[in-house]
Amino acid sequence: MRTPSSFLVITAAAFLGDPVQADTYDVEAMIREQDGFKLFFSAVNETMDFKQLLGQETHRKQTVANANDGSDVSRSDDLLGFLFNSMELPKSLTFPLSDATMSWRGAASLLNSTVYRNIPGLFPEGMDYFFDGLASIARFSFNETHMSMEVKAYESSAEEQWESCIFFGTGTGPTRPSDDSAQPQLCFKNPVVNMLPLGDQMWLTIDTRSWGRIDPVTLDTLEGIVDVPSSILNAHPACDSHYYQPSGSPAERSSNAQARECFVQYPCPIDKEVFSDQVCVGQLVPHYNTSNEKLLHVEEFSRSTLPAKKFLQQSHSPCITPNFVVSKLDEFDPINPVGNGKAGILKFVHQGEVNEWMVMDRRTNQSYIVYSDEAFVNNHFWNCYESNEGIVVQSVTATSDYLDIYFRSNLEEFSMKPDWWKYFKQPIECVVPVEAGSGTVGEAVKCKTLSQDLVFDYPTFNPYFKMNPDAKYFYAIAPISTETSIFFDRLVKIDMKSGALLSEWARADVYLTEANFIPTGVDAAEDDGVLFAVGYDASQGSSMVLLFDASTLRLIDEYPLGLVVPFHAHGLVCVEENCFPNP
Ligand SMILES: *[C@@H]1O[C@H](CO)[C@@H](O)[C@H](O)[C@H]1NC(C)=O
Ligand SMILES: *[C@@H]1O[C@H](CO)[C@@H](O)[C@H](O)[C@H]1NC(C)=O
Ligand SMILES: *[C@@H]1O[C@H](CO)[C@@H](O)[C@H](O)[C@H]1NC(C)=O
Repeated sequence: MRTPSSFLVITAAAFLGDPVQADTYDVEAMIREQDGFKLFFSAVNETMDFKQLLGQETHRKQTVANANDGSDVSRSDDLLGFLFNSMELPKSLTFPLSDATMSWRGAASLLNSTVYRNIPGLFPEGMDYFFDGLASIARFSFNETHMSMEVKAYESSAEEQWESCIFFGTGTGPTRPSDDSAQPQLCFKNPVVNMLPLGDQMWLTIDTRSWGRIDPVTLDTLEGIVDVPSSILNAHPACDSHYYQPSGSPAERSSNAQARECFVQYPCPIDKEVFSDQVCVGQLVPHYNTSNEKLLHVEEFSRSTLPAKKFLQQSHSPCITPNFVVSKLDEFDPINPVGNGKAGILKFVHQGEVNEWMVMDRRTNQSYIVYSDEAFVNNHFWNCYESNEGIVVQSVTATSDYLDIYFRSNLEEFSMKPDWWKYFKQPIECVVPVEAGSGTVGEAVKCKTLSQDLVFDYPTFNPYFKMNPDAKYFYAIAPISTETSIFFDRLVKIDMKSGALLSEWARADVYLTEANFIPTGVDAAEDDGVLFAVGYDASQGSSMVLLFDASTLRLIDEYPLGLVVPFHAHGLVCVEENCFPNP
């Protein structure tokens, strides 16, 4: 582990999300004095001039270059057309369903489902990191006759008062406010990665505690703060679906689905330390009777001490089985910020490729620190399950450079000369050993390549088969070729046990976002369902909803939207009364 002593480094507390007002327009002092940001610059390289970090140019809100109600679609000159493309919001559209959709054998469940997507939908001028795009929520709902699409921006201070913002994001900023007359404010909150339904609360998530809450019906922004003694949180909490009960009847399993337990893993220093060896797993508990806005509380279940301190410890995507919560203990390592051409948090740090994990036994709250024979960044875990050998965990692995790909300049370079292996490693399958009988977790996690030479990401699966050791499939988006594909341009169905490619779908000029699995029913076959994806046709300069038969990946139907929906990470599916977070 490198120590950050000689570099200007960011501390976990830098991720404090709540904007503050300043009395004076002394940006440096303002950032330095804010609780949390004090720690942010705790180890300063004396040669570094802080003022150089602030954007030299003023940034105004970008005028929207999007087509409106469907008729006149203008092709954007932006990279691939659907990156860095601001949407015109709010937006409300309806589309009559076609015969092909209505006569689909699984139509009954499809026609009662809703898909939500969390989209980087607004790119003010000066924002050159894709996943800093301001969070916007799309809802696609199906009834017996129509599909409707609603999109609204999440009303953060960056969205509402960009002109007075000092925006500090993953790869953007700190920016200089364009409006000199306005009171400047630090704008940090932008929950743009994933979504989490919990009780009757709907949260927008990100890997810091700066989550946001919306009304799932109106998509309006609501008050809501997550109460956790950490600046870091998981964009993908590990939620128990309660569906996997081998002995339970479908009715029992179904009625259980609401009793969902969601866990998060986070650094839990005793003092507000930058560098900590304390790691925790806690449960997310919605609070209703609270006089303040702390509506989601993280209750500590388990704590471990690592043999060495970690810097900005993070776990993007922990997973869950009936008896365990499994987290990869990733971290950020300091890099030399001088002249590296980056901005935002990534100017100072990148993800470390490390091999520590934390495994909590849900029956006892006891945690184990274990080590894999592979060191990597865990992009996503998906459907973990327990077997005779232990806990089987599959991972989309990434490199230290992975997050850098979303800088505009790197995406431009990538679109000319794709280099997938710079950002991804081979997907792997690891087994965390568990001693039968005692349930003791062993230290040595063994990993092997899951799918030779196949790169994919945004894995998804039938949510009724979560944690089920008999699950056979998962789905993902992938490049057709790591030599020539400039983005995710194919949908794949993969055998979960062998890693073999079973089916695929691709069409010239079409790029894809994550597919969401809409299951036909609790009792139906695992691959009986619809995959919902938002595609982008670069030849048309426009996006469409794509519905696939999940068993064959045959395209059931498509709905041109007449506008550009920017690329985005994640969404969730609601069928009847149940909403399934990802994964
Ligand atoms: C949708 O759900 C409602 C309420 O559960 C039900 O009455 C209706 O028949 C369902 N529609 C279809 C097409 O299954
Ligand atoms: C279905 O949705 C469309 C469009 O939103 C709406 O006009 C229609 O009334 C809805 N039908 C039913 C049965 O709710
Ligand atoms: C685990 O910790 C939580 C929070 O302290 C507690 O409510 C729960 O009972 C504990 N479970 C066990 C099995 O000790």
